[in-house]
Amino acid sequence: MTKKVVLATKNSHKIEEILAILGDIPGIEWLTYREIHFSDVEEVGETLEENAILKATAVARETGLPALAEDTGLEVEALGGAPGVRSARFAGAGKDYRANNEKLLRLLEGVRNRRARFRTVAVLALPDGRTWKAEGVLEGEIAGAPRGEHGFGYDPLFIPEGVGRTLAEMSPEEKNKISHRRRALELMRPILRDLATDPRSSW
Ligand code: IMP
Repeated sequence: MTKKVVLATKNSHKIEEILAILGDIPGIEWLTYREIHFSDVEEVGETLEENAILKATAVARETGLPALAEDTGLEVEALGGAPGVRSARFAGAGKDYRANNEKLLRLLEGVRNRRARFRTVAVLALPDGRTWKAEGVLEGEIAGAPRGEHGFGYDPLFIPEGVGRTLAEMSPEEKNKISHRRRALELMRPILRDLATDPRSSW
């Protein structure tokens, strides 16, 4: 029997990447918001960890199914770790990816230290309140101008260490091989495998 797990995000870019990375686990059937209803969860946490736990636990409780959530932030060294947990709203509530990227480039004008990293915190929550957490980091630097058409968010500005191209210049397969999201989700794989094969679990 397959076990259903809900992807607790309504971001279609994230859904695509998560399913490309974890979609092949035998015995797990992934449900997105297209297949099962769940309410939006406000990201009111002060950290990526808090937001990932908020989203996963709320969706697990509402649907009665295990739920996987993740929260991702871009941490720029010269900006003291900003935008970090505020990456989505960096240029203001409702602002788009382009406005966020423009603000980041403006703040880094003339700044020589371009070091940055993406950090993803993934959380799996069960309806009974149990949670598992995993983190993935991708080190790199911020480009001088946006480059590339793939990906989403800050991808056109982020050059992973040793790659020489932005994430948006890489194919989806190349990004998914090395990304912060891949690193966090790979740590979740054995936990999901156990869930799929545990005869005692009712979910
Ligand atoms: P959140 O995890 O939904 O809060 O996303 C925060 C913001 O970070 C998003 O709006 C994107 O702008 C950005 N973001 C998240 N993941 C990625 C990624 O893999 N590449 C580029 N930007 C990302």
